[in-house]
Amino acid sequence: MELKEMQALLQKSLPKKRFEHSLEVCKTAAILAAAHKIDVEKAKISALLHDCGREIPSRDNLSKAKELGLVIDEVERNQPILLHAKIGMYLAEHKYGVTDKDILEGIRYHTTGTAHMSKFAQVIYLADLLEPTRCFPGIDEMRDLAKRNLDRTMIRAYAQTIRYLLEYDLLVHPDCIAGYNELAIKFKRAKQGK
Ligand SMILES: [Fe+2]
Ligand SMILES: [Fe+2]
Repeated sequence: MELKEMQALLQKSLPKKRFEHSLEVCKTAAILAAAHKIDVEKAKISALLHDCGREIPSRDNLSKAKELGLVIDEVERNQPILLHAKIGMYLAEHKYGVTDKDILEGIRYHTTGTAHMSKFAQVIYLADLLEPTRCFPGIDEMRDLAKRNLDRTMIRAYAQTIRYLLEYDLLVHPDCIAGYNELAIKFKRAKQGK
């Protein structure tokens, strides 16, 4: 399926605001991908479709994930909103005809992140967080940093996400912690010159 066709199908499937957000993520991902010499066309597809799983209302995520035969972990069972990433990966493949592994991985990890993320998946994660309609203290600095250093931006994003989740008594997904720890170890070692 061509990008334009995917866009038309997505528009029919998502609420207006969510679709507009997807377009912004698509534009931001294209900029970040170019800055990091990553396939721009692939990044645009992954970014456009990153929230395609949102066509399922959050309250139905658990039953939908079960119906699709997806693996559901303990944190997802208790915070089913997280499942829109796995459901999205499924729909990208089966509804939008995506077979490319990078594109699917970008969708799969856009919510939690994970350890050993590819640059491609990092671009999708950060484009979702930093697209132009997002607003939080320090965002401009992060937008700037994201163009230069993905790992440094990711660790800030993880720290910010974890702080937010704790503030509102929400669950922290183990993939998010694993992603944070991996980068924390990396930067700690770099500081110690190891
Ligand atoms: Fe999302
Ligand atoms: Fe999103």
